Amino acid sequence: MEEDVFDRWAMLIRERTGVEIPRERHSFLATGLARRMRATGVDDPEDYYRWLTRGPGAAVEWSALVDLLTVQETRFYRDPQGLGLLRRYCRDEAPGGSRALQVLSAGCATGEEAYTLALVLEEAFGGGRGYAVTGTDISLGALAVARRGEYPAMRLSRLPRSLRDNGVEPVGEARWRIAERIRRRVCFVQMNLLTDDPVTLPPLDVVYCQNVLIYFARRQRERLVRRLADWLRPGGLMILGGGEFLPASLAGLHRVGGEDVLAFSKEAS
Ligand SMILES: C[S@@+](CC[C@H](N)C(=O)[O-])C[C@H]1O[C@@H](n2cnc3c(N)ncnc32)[C@H](O)[C@@H]1O
Repeated sequence: MEEDVFDRWAMLIRERTGVEIPRERHSFLATGLARRMRATGVDDPEDYYRWLTRGPGAAVEWSALVDLLTVQETRFYRDPQGLGLLRRYCRDEAPGGSRALQVLSAGCATGEEAYTLALVLEEAFGGGRGYAVTGTDISLGALAVARRGEYPAMRLSRLPRSLRDNGVEPVGEARWRIAERIRRRVCFVQMNLLTDDPVTLPPLDVVYCQNVLIYFARRQRERLVRRLADWLRPGGLMILGGGEFLPASLAGLHRVGGEDVLAFSKEAS
């Protein structure tokens, strides 16, 4: 692929999704485009570009291309430090409220993060307070897996035993399923975090967004962090991935949780 063609695609992807594909990943982009062109029977890259930017049915094809060009790597219980902070927040600041605590797993991929959050909240509240977790992602393919809530046993290896025993059940040969009681607390919504209006989101107590910003260009990172902060209630907590993004300052937010987590509390207005 010529450099100017690469740049045009990379710009389209950056503008629409926030995801930055640097020139070193030239072959990753070229392979993804070639796969989709083969699958759709379009021979000319120029025709494919025109179709995706102007043609009928472009949204469906765009979604298939995005599935190939985004990294959906994830794990259960990926970030013990951030989850520790969430536990402390549940214990100290959000113990027995009358309404359900609203939590967002932003860029949840195949659901492991959203279910981990639900399992931690279930254990922390022990029935003393309701909660709801919304997992959002741009990838429809990832969300379909998330909604099934069923995973190979090896994917649960890092989940602490107490959480597993309290909300995950074995099904069949080396597979586990999130218990119905937990699944009822979790829903999954397709959403482009950078551009979509958060119409389906309630005001949030906790925003958890990890390993998403690292794929974004700097300007898009700042934009996304500001959007996430806007969706938080006053007093709410935003937990990002350690070392992902250190803003110079974020109006209305102050850093909390110590050195080993990147988290912010939204000032009460
Ligand atoms: C590496 S995964 C991180 C999954 C999970 N948060 C974790 O830390 O384990 C990044 C996810 O971000 C999603 N993503 C990328 N750009 C997005 C956007 N603009 N809006 C919503 N999700 C996006 C990808 O589809 C992918 O599933």
